[in-house]
Amino acid sequence: MTDLVSAHRDGGVVSVTLNRPQKKNALTGEMYEALLAAFETASDDEGVGALLLSGEGGVFTAGNDIGDFLASAQSAAKESASTPASRFIRALARFEKPLVAAIEGQAVGIGTTLCFHCDLVYAAPSARFLMPFVNLGLVPEAGSSMLAPMRFGRARAAEFLLLAEPFDAETAREIGLVNAIVPAEELRAHALGKARALAAKPRAALLATRRLMRGESEAVYAHMDAELGEFSRALRSPEAKAAFTAFLEKPKA
Ligand code: COA
Repeated sequence: MTDLVSAHRDGGVVSVTLNRPQKKNALTGEMYEALLAAFETASDDEGVGALLLSGEGGVFTAGNDIGDFLASAQSAAKESASTPASRFIRALARFEKPLVAAIEGQAVGIGTTLCFHCDLVYAAPSARFLMPFVNLGLVPEAGSSMLAPMRFGRARAAEFLLLAEPFDAETAREIGLVNAIVPAEELRAHALGKARALAAKPRAALLATRRLMRGESEAVYAHMDAELGEFSRALRSPEAKAAFTAFLEKPKA
């Protein structure tokens, strides 16, 4: 079991924290496995009413570990549908309890796309969102290529997914990805307070309301599978391998 992801329950809320700040909380296979385990435990525990996601060290996550991407790209036999990352993405989209995120600093790749599956997202002024898939020779995941145009309109989504432009906390709030911008020193407590408020609601009504609000789920799951197929092919492309190698070999600042 890795200590790079911690999960602890406090009353009706499970707080799940990414804890690899020296690598900007970039997510490895074993971290995805730990996230999966935390989600599964929270799902099975009837005392849990909400899950809070955050990152240590002033950063949410720099996205998938690029060394892991390169390793997957080089192991031709690996079936993408069964990687820890893809299993986590499925579990995230299918999780039935409210999800709250507290975002500080970089939220790259899945750091941004997982927000589409959260019910409430709070961001520090330092939050910076980026979906750089195209730049890496990849395609979007977690349903983001469907959910971004649906939520922000095609024009705005093209800036984020085709041009791969970053956006800040203010833009994220304006387009409805983030509920509120909260000073960094108050962020976690604020998000935890909201998660507790959710967990204190009549549980069956809360979960049913959430289910009803997510009417397009089946279409999203199908779209996620289509993304995964494209992602798997793209991961092994020469352009993706070149992008991963360029990142890993960049000179240290
Ligand atoms: N995978 C693996 N290692 C990563 C990483 C990632 N996704 N993101 C950051 N790191 C590592 C860096 O290699 C560096 O390691 P080192 O100290 O051993 O050299 C360390 O984390 C700190 O990162 P650094 O790039 O020096 O920090 P920064 O503040 O200058 O930049 C980012 C932060 C997030 C903008 C930058 O690290 C970045 O662009 N990361 C890649 C993001 C990405 O493309 N993710 C994939 C999404 S699909």
